[in-house]
Amino acid sequence: MRLVVLGMGYLGAAHAACMASIGHEVLGVETDPARLAKLKTGQLPFYEPGLTDLLNKTLDSGHLVITNSYSEAAAWGDIFFIAVGTPQKRSDPSADLSFVDAVIDELVPQLRHDALIVGKSTVPVGTAARLSERAAALSDKVTVEIAWNPEFLREGYAIKDTLQPDRIVLGCVENGSAEQTAREIYEPILNTETPFIVTDTSTAELVKAAANAFLATKISFINAMAEVCLAAGADVLAIAKAIGYDPRIGHRFLRPGIGFGGGCLPKDIRAFMASAGELGAAEALTFLREVDAINMRRRNRMVSTASDSCGGSLLGKRVAVLGAAFKPDSDDVRDSPALNVAGQMQLQGASVAVYDPRAMANARLLFPTLFYADSVDQACKDADIVMVLTEWSEFVNLDPVVVGRLVRARTVIDGRFCLDKRRWTDAGWEYRI
Ligand SMILES: NC(=O)c1ccc[n+]([C@@H]2O[C@H](COP(=O)([O-])OP(=O)(O)OC[C@H]3O[C@@H](n4cnc5c(N)ncnc54)[C@H](O)[C@@H]3O)[C@@H](O)[C@H]2O)c1
Repeated sequence: MRLVVLGMGYLGAAHAACMASIGHEVLGVETDPARLAKLKTGQLPFYEPGLTDLLNKTLDSGHLVITNSYSEAAAWGDIFFIAVGTPQKRSDPSADLSFVDAVIDELVPQLRHDALIVGKSTVPVGTAARLSERAAALSDKVTVEIAWNPEFLREGYAIKDTLQPDRIVLGCVENGSAEQTAREIYEPILNTETPFIVTDTSTAELVKAAANAFLATKISFINAMAEVCLAAGADVLAIAKAIGYDPRIGHRFLRPGIGFGGGCLPKDIRAFMASAGELGAAEALTFLREVDAINMRRRNRMVSTASDSCGGSLLGKRVAVLGAAFKPDSDDVRDSPALNVAGQMQLQGASVAVYDPRAMANARLLFPTLFYADSVDQACKDADIVMVLTEWSEFVNLDPVVVGRLVRARTVIDGRFCLDKRRWTDAGWEYRI
């Protein structure tokens, strides 16, 4: 089938390459000139394990072609996936839908045949219906059907999550072509008994919002328990382990730490609250405000723990921050807790040296005033305190004896509860969480 993917970021590039790999003809449209130039030559403008190989394989086979031309896309494609960003607005917590709207405004007037547009970006409930009206107003010559197929992929696992998803959700109008078309597009995936849930578009949009709200709540729940444990002198890891054995609770996403970040969870729960407010259902989601607040408190608490470990002030102290990406196996620094903590400590007078195996370039762009070290060793040299804020395996497997020889004081803060406490204390470190 001839699929067009509009927006070739984390979601779009993964979707385009994966769809080409299962036999579709795919045209990826990217409007950012720097990103376009890279993608066309088989380079990803971000890090995602395995995706560079798949991109090159599908480009070489001719199943994937990349362009910036909407006229080419409009003339060529039958099905158009929207994969552009929906960041938080600068002015308020709601989602900025200007990129999604721009896709419709650019594409629809250029269509010369009927088309199915399938949204994958994360959007507030009601967006598909609104875009249908917008598309209808832009063209009286063709019929445009709009469906929503929210994406659940995790950065670091984009290929696996696209080709072997937990489920596929499709929101569409009755008597349209979307369900049958989606069954054909995803046939190889659906043949492996992947659950396929077909709903109206509002429900599909809400599935994504609900999933992210639940995950954020689970993380903030265990972080709230960590706060109580700190006050009570109890062990939050033991609590997470013990309650997680209950299959109704489960162990996943129950690890305490500095909390969630990235380009999805924080902005998505805020957009969800804003959207509920507009619908007159704000009260239903007031708990998400607390989820957000618990999460942001973790970052502040990390800074106070560091300050406390340095005798009450960070002024003039050297801090090694290991980790800049919001999670391991990604170079994404959008709303990264690690960088937020690093930035706060610098503002309190510390000399902060940040090292991350993959996210240095993005971190430099977002926080240009921090010092970026070339290695763990350089970051830790003469440090008064070492903080592990992203659980890259390189950091989890560090030898505390070797690191101990580099630093000025052996104090480590394990912001992700990912270190072997005994190994570090046996090597003479003060271990803090
Ligand atoms: N990143 C994830 O893990 C993930 C997972 C699930 C859902 N999502 C959702 O997917 C959407 C995209 O997220 P992302 O992380 O891929 O964002 P991104 O910023 O990495 O990618 C968006 C891309 O779209 C391009 N673009 C902007 N306007 C365009 C236009 N008019 N035409 C063509 N290209 C255009 C941008 O240059 C950019 O390359 C968001 O709604 C996000 O919430 C992301």
